[in-house]
Formats: sequence, C-alpha cells, structure tokens
Amino acid sequence: MKSTDLLMSEHRLIERMLNVLSNYTIKLEQGKKVPPENLKMCVDFIRTFADTYHHLKEEDILFAEMEAFGMPRNGGPVGVMLSEHEMGRRFTKAMTQAAEDYEKGNNGAAKAFAENARNYVGLLSQHISKEDGILYPMANQMLGDMDDQIMEQFDEKKSRLGERVREKYEGIVTQLEKDSSS
Ligand SMILES: [Fe+2]
Ligand SMILES: [Fe+2]
Repeated sequence: MKSTDLLMSEHRLIERMLNVLSNYTIKLEQGKKVPPENLKMCVDFIRTFADTYHHLKEEDILFAEMEAFGMPRNGGPVGVMLSEHEMGRRFTKAMTQAAEDYEKGNNGAAKAFAENARNYVGLLSQHISKEDGILYPMANQMLGDMDDQIMEQFDEKKSRLGERVREKYEGIVTQLEKDSSS
C-alpha cells in the first residue's frame, strides 16, 4: 500500500465521524437530548484519531518530507494544510469545553457544541478533499521513490502511539453511527 492510500483510508474513517457529528449537531439544534458521554467520545476520536494519529503522520512525516524536497512551508499548499490543522484544533478545544459544560447541564453548552462541531465538519470536509485531490497526488509525484521509507516512518509512529488505535476508533465510530442516527 502507498503511504497516501493509507492516509486516504484514514480520511474515510474521519468522514464517518464527521457524519456522526452532523447528526448530533442537528439533534442538539432541535433541542433533543444527546448522551453527554457520546459527545465526549466524538471529541476523543477527533483528538486522538484525527488530530494525533492522522495529522501527526502528515505534519511530522509526509509534509516534512515534502518540505525537504523544496516545497515551502509558508505560502504553499503545505502551509495551508498546516494552518487548517491549527484551525481545527481551535474548534476541537471549544468542542471539548462545550461537551464538559453540556455534561454539567450548563445553559448554552448544546448551542456551543453544535456551532463548533458544524464549523469543524465544514473545515475538515474541504480539507480532506484538498488533500485527496491535490496534495497527496503532489506528494506521490515528489516522494514516489521513497515511499517505502515513508511507510517505515509511519509504522514507527504507529507503534509509538499504541497498537490497535485504528481498530479501537473504528469500533467507536460504528457504535456512535448507530446512536446518532436513531
Ligand atoms: Fe491534513
Ligand atoms: Fe489528512
């Protein structure tokens, strides 16, 4: 498997979570109750699977290698991706806080969660389509010859982040898909 194929398969799992978030956003906006622990599971998925397991492979390995090949960090497409990761982290931070407030029953927490989740879903879906359609094909062209080495670095990172991370979060998404669509 190519490194960008692996990253794209992670995108497909992240998109399933974006769909879960959209379902919960609609429920919250309609004033329906959502189990607070489920909102916290969404936040945990985003922080651990999307923002650590997936984004760090891009930032520390794939994008870093593209920079080493002469792609500028600032102003270029890699810089845009990095600033979108940062923007995503701000929405995630706000969702984390809102999920905690919602659990405590604070006023306005449902609205705050829904707003930030909606922004996050919008940001990430267009981010993913830019990576799939533009950035990864560029990476394949630039780094095709060293793909085995990139995959090795991915494996090394994976073992540092813990075994079976992907399997664990696939299970969580499957569970949340059922709850959020009922
Ligand atoms: Fe990314
Ligand atoms: Fe990505």
